[in-house]
Amino acid sequence: MLEQTRIENSPSTRERARVYVTGDCDGLPDLRDSLANHPEVELVGSAAQVGEAAPTLTGGHLQVVLHATRSATLPVNEIAALREHTRAPIVLLASNGSPALLEDALEHDVADVLLLPQLTDNVVFAIRKAGHVGKRLNGSDRRHGRLVTVFSPKGGTGKTVTATNLGTSLAKHWGKRALLLDLDLQFGDAAIMLGIEPEKTIYDLVTAPGELDSEKLAGYTTRHASGLDVLPAPLRPEDAELVTEAKLARLLEVARESYDVIVVDTSPFFHGPMLATLDRTDELLLLCGLDVPTLKNVRLSLQTLELLSFPPDRIKLVLNRANSKVGMKPKEVEAALEREIAYEVPSDRSVPIAVNRGNPAVLSDSKADFSRAVRAMAKQLVADQAAAKQKKSFLASLGRS
Ligand SMILES: Nc1ncnc2c1ncn2[C@@H]1O[C@H](COP(=O)(O)OP(=O)(O)OP(=O)(O)O)[C@@H](O)[C@H]1O
Ligand SMILES: [Mg+2]
Repeated sequence: MLEQTRIENSPSTRERARVYVTGDCDGLPDLRDSLANHPEVELVGSAAQVGEAAPTLTGGHLQVVLHATRSATLPVNEIAALREHTRAPIVLLASNGSPALLEDALEHDVADVLLLPQLTDNVVFAIRKAGHVGKRLNGSDRRHGRLVTVFSPKGGTGKTVTATNLGTSLAKHWGKRALLLDLDLQFGDAAIMLGIEPEKTIYDLVTAPGELDSEKLAGYTTRHASGLDVLPAPLRPEDAELVTEAKLARLLEVARESYDVIVVDTSPFFHGPMLATLDRTDELLLLCGLDVPTLKNVRLSLQTLELLSFPPDRIKLVLNRANSKVGMKPKEVEAALEREIAYEVPSDRSVPIAVNRGNPAVLSDSKADFSRAVRAMAKQLVADQAAAKQKKSFLASLGRS
């Protein structure tokens, strides 16, 4: 961008870009003053020498570094010095430019070059552009919704009841942008349990022409009164096979960019779509009951998950109907599975009543023991997500240094 062009800028309602200025050249003081007063820029600081700026460059969570130079050729040493402290995109400002400067600069990991003087809006445009590319490259600013898969190798263990109530609680009580994805593709009944009659299902979404993106996804989900979005299973069992692994992989990728949490209800099988989902699952709620056949199958599932190299720390064992008096204790389940129970959910008469009314128990009977247990699960999930996010940004800050 060596020539001066007028670029229309959009209204300054966006988040301000954190910018640091290093080096010096003609016209820089005026530009710095203008940037300091620009509504789309947060000028974090400036220093003539890169060394002086080191602490802020390292820890400043900068979107862009503007580096000014009087040299007509690329100040390779100065760029290298900046790179010792930050991975933020660098935009070079020059008061003298040779034709080779832009080419050299791009080869040396410089995002853009601007010859001063420039209109401030043009510089802000270059900052926005460079910051945007930087975000895409390190991916740190992309929304990365948490994928929570509810699974059990046995039918009737409470997967759909858990998934629908958990999704409802996350949306209603925690204000999360939450999606419930019904991957019990042949006989999914999440929509019925939520009392909604969706016009479109996952089948319509994956068979619709054109690229799948967030906007398209939004056109196929149905909003529940709690704020939870639902993408139901196909209406006919024979349509299930059109939801291929490849289509599902893309769908999950898009859903993660649109939502804070995606709760997936499943069928009791390790089929292709389930494997594609496991591949992207952050937390697997593995449901178990106080009965020997379920226990045997959960044990087999744990072995299968191990063979699939699914990370064991992502598995949370959920004991449903934990208070049933059936001659087996939770401790015996833990011993048999050699794993701790993460959540105990009681058997509660409010659940079948809520199922038959199509109104999740966490809403219709919020004081019921079952509702309390699911709310506690949602609370822990939110805490886990916050901890994971904190860890990610800490690691990203180390990567920048
Ligand atoms: N904690 C509970 N207390 C009382 N009833 C429960 C509880 N959990 C589940 N149920 C009852 O068990 C029935 C089966 O639950 P659900 O449909 O959620 O199982 P599922 O694992 O999804 O079954 P499927 O594999 O057939 O999809 C529900 O209709 C519900 O009424
Ligand atoms: Mg079910």
